[in-house]
Amino acid sequence: MHPIFFTRGVPPGASIPVDQLADCAKAVIAEEGANILQYAPAAGYPPLRELLAQKKNISMERVILGQGSLQILDILFHCLLHPGDAVAVEQPTYDRVLTLMRRAGLRIFPMNLTNDGLDLDNLHSKLENGEQIRLIYTIPDFQNPSGSIMALEKRKRLVALAARYNFFIVEDSPYRDLRYEGEALPALFDLAPDTTIQLSSFSKLISPGLRVGYAVLPQNLTTTVVHYAEDTYINPSYLNHAVVFRFLQNGFMEEHLPFLKNLYRTRLKCMLAALDSTMPDHCIWTRPEGGFFIGLWLSSNSGPLLLERAEAQGLRLTDGRGFFVNDGGNFIRLPFCALSEEEIHQGILALAALISS
Ligand SMILES: Cc1ncc(COP(=O)(O)O)c(C=O)c1O
Repeated sequence: MHPIFFTRGVPPGASIPVDQLADCAKAVIAEEGANILQYAPAAGYPPLRELLAQKKNISMERVILGQGSLQILDILFHCLLHPGDAVAVEQPTYDRVLTLMRRAGLRIFPMNLTNDGLDLDNLHSKLENGEQIRLIYTIPDFQNPSGSIMALEKRKRLVALAARYNFFIVEDSPYRDLRYEGEALPALFDLAPDTTIQLSSFSKLISPGLRVGYAVLPQNLTTTVVHYAEDTYINPSYLNHAVVFRFLQNGFMEEHLPFLKNLYRTRLKCMLAALDSTMPDHCIWTRPEGGFFIGLWLSSNSGPLLLERAEAQGLRLTDGRGFFVNDGGNFIRLPFCALSEEEIHQGILALAALISS
């Protein structure tokens, strides 16, 4: 078996609209010339900010474009919080955000994920007991790494808790538009548009290498965040912002998004079918309706051993413990986005055999 990478959730090369991006880049440089290649204000290319603001029915000042969304998260943790502040996350959660939080010296409270999103009873009791949680980081739609979705009731309850106990909600939503089945639920931003900090990105929708991500901020935070960004990188790449803007303006997304959904829907279905037909009964996995990942829970903490044995057979897995504040030895993230159906079949078959043995 050639190596099969059940590791990073990277969009496959075939998902990147290279020819259209080449046309957009050429046109942007031809028409905007040196202006688009200059230093510029840190909040990002105004036409793209305006377009995103219009879609959300808010003022453009509230939309900040960055070099991908991850760096904006880093800035937020430094701008809004101090070392020692308490934050809450879903457990498991996006591993790079845990790294950023640790680097910023934050105290991280993990809230277990249940079938329908994070364990709010646990959060509520911590708040009632006087824990001063300053911020909660959540990925409510097709979570990385588990693929889970937060139920509507939980979304409403979380927004109500944030208002009552006065903490920031950071809603990270790079997979929200990649829904292959079913109906979208309101975003946390839709439920509390004046107070939720929402992040998203064109990394999964157009190209990760362009590094175009954005945050929608409450009005009173924009100046602080933009100043911090300016002192960090002067300005993000306007050229890349302009390429994305032109891609959207030209209407390319109207064809591209259905193409992506078809590509990933087939792969998701294929992985679910392979899991259903091969995995032993003692494993549990999510059944996402979108995104890039399925989360798999083993019945014991045998993940690290499994990782070694899988490696020897050419199956590369990510160490589940990276997605947890504590534990995680029983968790495996299964990205289906960048694998062919053949690789998915072979990989899941091999994984199931290893787990059974
Ligand atoms: C939940 C989540 N947030 C943020 C990112 C980073 O996105 P960007 O490429 O916009 O920095 C990722 C990338 O995998 C992600 O899964």
